Amino acid sequence: MAFNFEESIDRRHSDSYKWQKYSAQDVIPLWVADTDFRSPPCIIEALQAQVAHGVFGYGAPPRELAELLVARMSERYHWHIEPDWVVFLPGLVSGINLAVRSLTLPGESVVIPSLIYPPFRSAARSAGREQRLAAMRLDRGRWVVDLAGPPAGMDGTERLLMLCNPHNPGGTVYRRAELEQQLNFARRHDLFVCSDEIHCDLLLEPGVEHIPFATLNDDAAQRTITLVSPSKSFNIAGLGASAAIIPNARLRSRFIAQRSGIVPSVDVLALVAATAAWRDGQPWLTEQLAYLRGNRDWLAARLASITELRMTTPEATYLAWIDASALGVDNPQHFFEQAGVGLSPGADFGDRRFVRLNFGCPRPLLVQAVERMARAIDDLHPAGPAA
Ligand SMILES: Cc1ncc(COP(=O)(O)O)c(C=O)c1O
Repeated sequence: MAFNFEESIDRRHSDSYKWQKYSAQDVIPLWVADTDFRSPPCIIEALQAQVAHGVFGYGAPPRELAELLVARMSERYHWHIEPDWVVFLPGLVSGINLAVRSLTLPGESVVIPSLIYPPFRSAARSAGREQRLAAMRLDRGRWVVDLAGPPAGMDGTERLLMLCNPHNPGGTVYRRAELEQQLNFARRHDLFVCSDEIHCDLLLEPGVEHIPFATLNDDAAQRTITLVSPSKSFNIAGLGASAAIIPNARLRSRFIAQRSGIVPSVDVLALVAATAAWRDGQPWLTEQLAYLRGNRDWLAARLASITELRMTTPEATYLAWIDASALGVDNPQHFFEQAGVGLSPGADFGDRRFVRLNFGCPRPLLVQAVERMARAIDDLHPAGPAA
């Protein structure tokens, strides 16, 4: 390996959101979704050159950045986009909120998967839009959204369907037929679609393919805002660089109008980092995926021997969605935090019996964390799980 993913970098007393939470406690933080890996050298070098340049006036996305995205979408995902369809943003969550506010009116509502990264639901809530929850279910070890029938409470005010592919927290990479079911639903109910594809580079399962929702057909392209970013793939989430890809000019101008004066332009250092990532980051990304796959496989094997915890093997992302209901504790996140491991509470994503574990860290740290969890369970149930 040319890059070292086992390096232990001390983030405890840094500006890290993830590590600051437990800076005074012996808790291993495996919650918020960034990794503990150093970003690729190509990004660090590009940032160093920009800092040496020493002028930090207002920035504008270089033409090269849109062109890199155009090439990336075409080469990796067979999606032929135009540079003019791209709207750069300082963060993807801004894009989720802008999609809600630009594609729905007061009194209209949003269809959202019942298990989901929390900002999808808070975007609807803070805009005052009602939510209809589309049930998610386990289908042969994969979390899938079920839109065969309408979600409860549908009343014709629905205007927007939210999609997260690959799915956070479930790790699902939707297959073509599953996406088509979602498109059919959107057509039947005349919905726009916001497709968050931030994790699309992080495919761990051999043989699975990321299909951008907007590539299903022209109808899908015309009703969809797709959100992408280099932030998860290259661990530059703290810099904030994302893009909305909007083929439909009418939707694009509504989105841009909503952004105006509220969402700032992308930070100049973020532009440099994103450009370096998409231009030169592939060798690092390839090795990172191999390392993450190793972490995922180790975790799946280790948890298979802990009967109180059930994990579906994520096809993508560095996030594991773990069913802790057999533990028989009221708040599994709190239980593991007391044992020295900081996970994300399942309640935030739609199911309080679960926890979400971020395995984007050096393997020795992951092993240490999971052994703490195993020991805490042993202490709780010395004679095995509750009946
Ligand atoms: C599905 C999804 N969308 C968006 C984000 C965050 O995007 P940003 O930090 O660019 O706002 C995350 C981070 O965990 C995520 O998992």
